[in-house]
Amino acid sequence: MSTSVFGQPSRLDPESARGIVSALGIDVDAARARLLTGGVSSVVVAIDGARAVVVKQALAHLDVATVWEADPSRSQTEVAALHLFHSITPNHVPDVLASVPDRHVIVMERAPRGWRDWRAVLLARPGPADVDRGRALGRIVGSWHAATWKDDRLRSAFDRETAFDQLRLDPFHRELIRRGVVSADVLAPLIDQLAHTRECVVHGDLSPKNVLVGDPGMWVIDAEVAHFGAAVFDVAFLVAHLAVKSFHLPDSSHVLRAVAHAFREGYEEANPQRVTAGDIVRHAAAIMAARVHGKSPAAYLGASEAALVASTAREALGAPDPEFEMLWNATDRRDRR
Ligand SMILES: Nc1ncnc2c1ncn2[C@@H]1O[C@H](COP(=O)(O)OP(=O)(O)OP(=O)(O)O)[C@@H](O)[C@H]1O
Ligand SMILES: [Mg+2]
Repeated sequence: MSTSVFGQPSRLDPESARGIVSALGIDVDAARARLLTGGVSSVVVAIDGARAVVVKQALAHLDVATVWEADPSRSQTEVAALHLFHSITPNHVPDVLASVPDRHVIVMERAPRGWRDWRAVLLARPGPADVDRGRALGRIVGSWHAATWKDDRLRSAFDRETAFDQLRLDPFHRELIRRGVVSADVLAPLIDQLAHTRECVVHGDLSPKNVLVGDPGMWVIDAEVAHFGAAVFDVAFLVAHLAVKSFHLPDSSHVLRAVAHAFREGYEEANPQRVTAGDIVRHAAAIMAARVHGKSPAAYLGASEAALVASTAREALGAPDPEFEMLWNATDRRDRR
C-alpha cells in the first residue's frame, strides 16, 4: 500500500461520522448514517436525524486511475468559501454547521430529499427547465464574482495557489502538455493567465456534478478549490462540461448549447463586462481537452466521442479568434451548415 506525502487521519465512515456529529452537539438522536457515493476526492456520509446533515472528509489520495495527491487541508478552504458564498447567496449554498480541521472534516446542511446532482439530470435528458437552471447558476456565480471583485481582504484570505495548481493547472493543463496532446506554446499563455490573474473569489470546480437541483431549488457545493483568481475559469469550466456532454448526447446538443448561452447571460447580468467571449472559448477548449486526456477524464464518454471532443478542443485552441459555436458537437454543426 502506498503512503501519502500528506498525513491522513483515520478515514471517515458512517459510525465515526455519527460520533463526530454528536460530539459537536448536533442532535443525531436515532439518526441513520450512510456513505454517499459520487465524490472522487472525499468521503461523504449522509446523516438523517433531527436534522439532515452531511459530513465530508477531504482525501489525500484521489480515487482516480492515475496517481493524484492533494493536500487535504483544502478542507479549510472549502469551509471559508462555503461561508462566503452562503453569505452572498444564502439560498444557493449549504450552511456549514461545524468543522474539525485536524481531521479535514466539514459538517454541513444536507440538500432536501429528492434533490439530484445536475449532471445526472442532464445526462438523463436536458430540457427547458435546465435552460432556466443555467441562467440561475450564471446569476449565482456572477454575484459571487461581483461581490468579491478586487477585494483585497479576500485576496489574502483566498490566496490558495497551491490547491489550484495541484487540483487544476497540473492535472488538467500541464498534463496535456506532458502527454503531447496540446503544445506548450498554446497552453502556456492560458496557464499564465490562470496562475497570475487576481480578480475575485473563484469556485474552481463549477461542474454540473457540484450543482444539486430540486424542483425548484439549486445549491452549489464542493468549494475546496476556491481561490482568488481569474473569473473566466468558473465560466469556462461550466461551459466546457456542458459542451463535452453534447458529444455524448448529440440529439440534445442544441439544448445544452442553450443552457450554456443562458448561463453566460445570467452571469453577464450579475457581473457585466468582466469576461470576454474569446477567453471563455479558449479556456473552455483547454478544459475540454483535459476532460479527455487529463488525469480525471469524463467517465461517460465513449472512445469515438472522446476523440471528437479532443479534436474539437484542439481546433478551437488553434483558431486565432475562436467562436463559442465551435465548441459543440460536430454532428450538430454539420446539421447547421
Ligand atoms: N450538502 C450536501 N447535501 C446533499 N448531498 C451532498 C452534499 N454535499 C455533498 N453531497 C453529495 O456527495 C457528493 C460528493 O460531494 P462533493 O462534491 O462535495 O465531494 P468531492 O469528493 O469533493 O467531489 P468531486 O468528485 O466533485 O471531487 C456530491 O456529488 C453529492 O451527491
Ligand atoms: Mg463534487
